[in-house]
Amino acid sequence: MIHRHQLGQVPAKPHTAFYEGDKLLMEQCVTREGFEGPFSILYYRIPPTDETRVEQMGVPGFCPFEMVEEQPLHRRHVKTQDIRADGDFLTARRTLMVNSDVQIGVCKANRPADRFFSNADGDECWFAYDRGGVVESVYGILPYRKHDYVLIPKATPYRIHPEGGAGTFLVFEGRGYIDIPKQWRNKAGQITMYAPYTHRDFRAPEALLRFDEKKHGKGLYPLVIKKDDRLTVHVYEHFPYELVGWDGFVYPVAFNIHDYQPRTGLIHLPPTIHLTFAGNDFVICSFVPRKVDYHEKSIPCPYGHASPDCDEILYYVDGTFTSRKGIESQSISLHPAGVPHGPHPGTYAKSIGTRETQELAVMCDTLKPLRLTKFADGIEDKDYHFSWVRRENEGMGLSK
Ligand SMILES: [Fe+2]
Repeated sequence: MIHRHQLGQVPAKPHTAFYEGDKLLMEQCVTREGFEGPFSILYYRIPPTDETRVEQMGVPGFCPFEMVEEQPLHRRHVKTQDIRADGDFLTARRTLMVNSDVQIGVCKANRPADRFFSNADGDECWFAYDRGGVVESVYGILPYRKHDYVLIPKATPYRIHPEGGAGTFLVFEGRGYIDIPKQWRNKAGQITMYAPYTHRDFRAPEALLRFDEKKHGKGLYPLVIKKDDRLTVHVYEHFPYELVGWDGFVYPVAFNIHDYQPRTGLIHLPPTIHLTFAGNDFVICSFVPRKVDYHEKSIPCPYGHASPDCDEILYYVDGTFTSRKGIESQSISLHPAGVPHGPHPGTYAKSIGTRETQELAVMCDTLKPLRLTKFADGIEDKDYHFSWVRRENEGMGLSK
């Protein structure tokens, strides 16, 4: 929900007769929070309500997923780099951590997208780890780039085509909105001048979808819908995403993490200053290459801390992460509430005097505890919790 956008043709007033040639077009209002929230109005060439078949399906590890029975409280490291690519943007999804506000997973696709998918459980946020591509949705064609976040509103039919048919993603599924945090908006809804991005950084669909037999196939058009963590397939006999136009606030957007404007302080600022998107009781933050703190005695490495009200995950993307050792690109660390965490031995002292960092990572803090799926448990580095224990020759790393 960035700002009002229009693509194609819409009539001067909603809910009035709107023709293409002599054909009356079907208006569909996509309205959030009943009729109180943000909305878009879409004008269909063929009504989207004439599915001819409904079936059930499953994608093991994504929907349904299974939870671990016991989850002792300790720091965790889930090695998503060990996941084998297998499937398209839908069937390659694997859910790793879950609470009632957000589900966090990865997708390692190695096949071109086939069906369209609609997540009626909540908004999604995809982070493109390794390459760009194109999102096709009922709102049109949205190209995305490597290291883009792509926000897909709840119940949007879409599919993702990574360049070359293969791509790795970190995926957040909210249970509600994933949006610009309130503190980055003024009372008119505009992104403030002190926010870490501007309206110009967000990209909307560029062109409406047009049926192409080569791209979309001939015959039946299945749409997979997720609701209450179950998948049903709704089958259309015609291509259901041909619109004449739409306008409104609800549509997918792309934002590149490198357009995030990082803050640096005299002394180290808390992770709050990396805030990027907010959901219901969780936030998504961006750690990007930046100058670090400039007090002559500042310690740029994050201090040890205990946040007893938050679980915290970090997805490591690129660069050297100042506070961690033994973590690689695509690692996810989970530091649960109730257990303190901080820099690995040696990294705190080593950071003194540095002037910049090249780290690139995505963080998510949740107010409710995250529970692990059996799939995540299977790729966990079980020694991570004890990796803070000092080795004999490592010392505290605290002397000058
Ligand atoms: Fe932390």
